[in-house]
Amino acid sequence: MMHLRFNPRSAVRLILAISLAAVLATAQDAYTTKPPSSDGIGKVYMGREIAQVMGHLGASWLERGERAQEEGTELLVKNLPLKPTDAAADIGAGTGYFSFRLAAKVPSGKVYAVDIQQEMLDIIEGRKRTGQVSNVITVLGTESDPKLPENALDLILMVDAYHEFNYPREMGEAMVRALKPGGRIALVEYRSEDDAVPIKRLHKMTEAQAKKEMAALGLTWVETKAELPWQHLMFFQKPSGAAH
Ligand SMILES: C[S@@+](CC[C@H](N)C(=O)[O-])C[C@H]1O[C@@H](n2cnc3c(N)ncnc32)[C@H](O)[C@@H]1O
Repeated sequence: MMHLRFNPRSAVRLILAISLAAVLATAQDAYTTKPPSSDGIGKVYMGREIAQVMGHLGASWLERGERAQEEGTELLVKNLPLKPTDAAADIGAGTGYFSFRLAAKVPSGKVYAVDIQQEMLDIIEGRKRTGQVSNVITVLGTESDPKLPENALDLILMVDAYHEFNYPREMGEAMVRALKPGGRIALVEYRSEDDAVPIKRLHKMTEAQAKKEMAALGLTWVETKAELPWQHLMFFQKPSGAAH
C-alpha cells in the first residue's frame, strides 16, 4: 500500500489555489453579453447592460452652470455624513466637481479622486494648483481596480459613474476592501423609474437594481434620500465587524 505523506505547506497552497480559482470563476461568471444598445457596451451584469464611459471631451457638461440647480448638488453634498478628519474617495471623479466639494468638508482629512482617464485627472491637478488645495489626491485607476488603500476610507462617493464601470463586480469588491469597517458608500444614480429625468436609458438605474448589486457585495442598505431632483442618493454600509 502506498503511503502518502501529509505536507501542511502543500495543503495550504492547494487550498489557496482552489480559493483563487473560485473567486476568478465567480467574477467571470458574473457577466453575459448581448448585442450592444446605442448607449451600452453589450455586457450585462445582474440583468443590467453596462453603459458606455463618458469621454473626457464631455468634461464641460459636468461643469455646466445650470448643474447645481438641475441636480441639487449642494443638497447632495450637505447630505454626506463626513467629519473634518475623514478620509473619502470620489470614484469616477471626472473633473473633480464633487472631489473639491468633499475636500472642503474634510479640511483635516483627504479625498482620493479616482478616474480611469488621465485627461480628467489633469483637469483636477490644474484645479488643485489654481485653488491651492492640498487634500485632494488624484489616483489613476484601472477599469477593475480603483487603486485605493485597504481599510482606509470612511466614505466612497460615486456620482453618475457606477453604471458605466466595465467591471462592477471587481470594482465593488475593491471598494469594500478600501472601506473601513462601518464605512459607507454613497451611490448617486439618475432615477430610471422616472421618465421625466432627461438622461439616456443606460445612464440611469432603478433603486431596486442598485440595492441588488450592492447586496451582492455584502453591503447593507442604510437609506435612500429622495430629495434630489433627478437622482437617487443611496447609502450602503460595510459591516462593522468586517476587516475586508
Ligand atoms: C459621467 S462622469 C461623472 C463624473 C463626476 N462623478 C461628476 O458627477 O461630475 C463618469 C466618470 O467615471 C469615470 N469612470 C468610468 N469607469 C470608471 C472606473 N472603472 N473607475 C474609475 N472611474 C471610471 C469616467 O472616466 C468619467 O470620468
